[in-house]
Amino acid sequence: MSNPNVKPATGKLGIMVVGLGAVSTTFMTGVMMTRKGLAKPIGSMTQYDKIRVGRGENKKYLHYNEIAPIAKLDDIVFAAWDVYPVNAYESAINAEVLKEKDIEPVKDELMKIKPLKAAFDKNYAKRLDGDNVKQCKDRWDMMEQVREDIRNFKKETGVDRVVVLWAASTEIYVAPDKNVHYTIEQLEAAMKANDVDHIAPSMCYAYAALKEGCPFIMGAPNTTVDIPAMWQLSEETKVPIAGKDFKTGQTLVKSGFAPIIGTRMLGLSGWFSTNILGNRDGLVLDEPANFRTKEVSKLSTLESILVAEEQPDLYTDYFHKVRINYYPPRNDNKEGWDNIDIFGWMGYPMQIKINFLCRDSILAAPLCLDLCLLMDLAHRAGCYGTQRFLSFFLKSPMHDYTKDEVPVNDLFKQYVMLKNFIREAGGYEADQEID
Ligand SMILES: NC(=O)c1ccc[n+]([C@@H]2O[C@H](COP(=O)([O-])OP(=O)(O)OC[C@H]3O[C@@H](n4cnc5c(N)ncnc54)[C@H](O)[C@@H]3O)[C@@H](O)[C@H]2O)c1
Repeated sequence: MSNPNVKPATGKLGIMVVGLGAVSTTFMTGVMMTRKGLAKPIGSMTQYDKIRVGRGENKKYLHYNEIAPIAKLDDIVFAAWDVYPVNAYESAINAEVLKEKDIEPVKDELMKIKPLKAAFDKNYAKRLDGDNVKQCKDRWDMMEQVREDIRNFKKETGVDRVVVLWAASTEIYVAPDKNVHYTIEQLEAAMKANDVDHIAPSMCYAYAALKEGCPFIMGAPNTTVDIPAMWQLSEETKVPIAGKDFKTGQTLVKSGFAPIIGTRMLGLSGWFSTNILGNRDGLVLDEPANFRTKEVSKLSTLESILVAEEQPDLYTDYFHKVRINYYPPRNDNKEGWDNIDIFGWMGYPMQIKINFLCRDSILAAPLCLDLCLLMDLAHRAGCYGTQRFLSFFLKSPMHDYTKDEVPVNDLFKQYVMLKNFIREAGGYEADQEID
């Protein structure tokens, strides 16, 4: 089977990553090591998962790339922007996520990735003080400079297509503003007027990417493409967007575990999530304004799975709190604790404790790969606007909040959307069968 409306994955795929820190370098190193046959891309759906296509006696289980044309790892070419000037090799060493033995074999390739100057404003991440930063007249100029970077990258490498992935620090919270973020005209006027309070640097990257015909993925919880003006731009340019916030550790557990409570009709009186982490991400999130962005994203998961309006006896007024504590000794090895207070038959209380010792960047790297490859596929399939089938990978899936649309946060419903997208991209019928 094949879908004639999906263009083949010919030529090279450029992946331009905003931020060259722990997540990005773990992602890049893993792809390069896999290409050499020295590592395995474990955790990646596009590299491992098999799904059923067809029904009855015609059914078969195939890998994604046997169903739809997905770019090969060998065809990926990387580039990055960062506030700090160190190359991807030095950054990978500094991040202390991977052992040197897992980096050295691709040292030469990594050293060639030298970060382009960042479109950056220190007010959006006070704890960062690198100087590899663009000098910009205003936000419009900032955006134009990013467009030029994308064009130069295409010219220098000859890549066929480019996807832009934000894996940079979380910016301070920017609330969607009806006077600035609701139409393309407003957004452009604010960029030209250098409205630095409402136009985050990430919006300049996103606007630039869409104008250059490159899908944009927001891996942090930033508002960036989660505003009506960007949805419109994505429709106008016919380039897809996705976001926001990689769903890796604690929220992954939450979106997988909450459906157990919800499907068994158990009650919830409280869910307290706390964790310690000590990497640069943790340092940035130690700043209250930056944490606020993360908090909004993390809190939204539960409320759309266990809904008070649907089951008032079970889910009215449960207490949900999320905390992140910066604790340097742990570096990238995060430890999360969840205390869940539930109640059952006749209201009797019970408790569940989850202690997850995870590695942040090890969990995020396969998501980066899958999101980039699937966004490229979506673009070749002619999709634009918010790609809701990618909610599976995201903590705070984008949805049209101006029309009271609700996000799908239940991991298993998200997986059905993902599988159906792959099936349709391969010319098969979407379905809901369980297997
Ligand atoms: N690892 C996870 O499990 C996970 C989960 C969800 C979201 N995230 C998000 O992914 C992002 C990356 O995480 P990380 O651990 O790699 O952080 P990191 O601090 O190691 O790397 C981020 C890099 O981004 C750079 N940066 C900041 N602003 C920039 C800008 N405007 N332009 C270019 N570069 C910029 C910083 O200098 C830094 O090197 C964070 O926003 C984090 O919240 C990570």
